[in-house]
Amino acid sequence: MKDRFGREIDYLRISITDRCNLRCVYCMPENGIVQIPHKEILTYDEIIRICRCMTDLGIRKIKLTGGEPLTRKGCATLVQMLKGLDGINKVTLTTNGVLLKDQIRSLFEAGIDDINISLDTLDASRFAQVTRRESLNQVLEGIEAALQYPAIGLKINCVPVLEEPENLAALAGLARQYPIHVRFIEMMPIGYGREFQFRGEEEICRILERAYGIMTPVTERYGNGPCHYYKIEGFQGKIGFISAMTHKFCDQCNRVRMTAEGYLKACLQYQTGTDLKSLMRSGCTDEELTEAIQKVIWEKPVSHHFTSVEAEADEERLMSQIGG
Ligand code: GTP
Ligand code: 5AD
Ligand code: SF4
Repeated sequence: MKDRFGREIDYLRISITDRCNLRCVYCMPENGIVQIPHKEILTYDEIIRICRCMTDLGIRKIKLTGGEPLTRKGCATLVQMLKGLDGINKVTLTTNGVLLKDQIRSLFEAGIDDINISLDTLDASRFAQVTRRESLNQVLEGIEAALQYPAIGLKINCVPVLEEPENLAALAGLARQYPIHVRFIEMMPIGYGREFQFRGEEEICRILERAYGIMTPVTERYGNGPCHYYKIEGFQGKIGFISAMTHKFCDQCNRVRMTAEGYLKACLQYQTGTDLKSLMRSGCTDEELTEAIQKVIWEKPVSHHFTSVEAEADEERLMSQIGG
């Protein structure tokens, strides 16, 4: 369906857990957060019920996020259930990759379409600094394992924090070595992200052009999100940028998101939304559920205001509770 600004909303991001096995400095505090009790988290059946109503409203693509989605038992089972829904044509996952090696086969069998792997650096000591865990090898093994399934589209997500130019170039080099797209994301001032400066698209482009030569924009999209891409001669994958700070993309926004507790959020930055879990657990009908979803989509804010000082109605949840 369209929102009140005429944007077609066909993409739902679902955070299936707020738990995570890493502690990235821009996402979670060192000691973790107070976790949502299990009974407050939507069951897979509840998620499916919501998604059925969503398909009636035109949602066609679903992304599973977290926290870290692969820490929730049976994630592949949920993928399979979602793939079985009439009207859903893409189910994708964004993961930190730590548990990917063990689960890639079941995800493939469940029919996952694309997987995005968050990896900020290939340098082991920087990885440990940023994630506060020593899991780089597990992530690399996860990527190697996923490459064995060429039907699954793979992308790397890097949020460059303090990374040295040579480390950024090395990470981009994964797109030369493998058929993987490598994307650089400008840090958004949400949760702990407020404590860091973003590294802008132009700066990263300059670093990569110095290392690899000319980057040429391409019009193709390799997913459902706001990323735009460049090609580099001799590279198998593309280099992408998600530049919410320097290239605002809200006028093309196509998505809503739901937290693990079943709060449907209209926009990443605002609290605007509705508590679908309470509604369902108080015994609402499917029509009432659909109406509540419709209202949230219709009232979706026009855009974020990351670069202004205005803070009204800002989201207080952390990125790990929203799923990005
Ligand atoms: P693809 O469909 O594979 O391109 O995925 P995606 O880019 O939609 O999702 P992913 O989970 O990989 O998210 C990558 C980055 O984009 C994260 O930093 C998200 O927070 C950010 N992102 C996704 N959707 C939005 C959005 O609507 N607004 C903003 N500002 N950032 C978003
Ligand atoms: N700004 C931009 N991206 C972020 N991510 C986590 N926190 C932020 C932030 N403040 C990214 C993760 C992951 C994706 C889901 O969101 O690195 O790739
Ligand atoms: Fe976990 Fe992702 Fe946050 Fe890192 S960015 S702590 S992987 S939820």
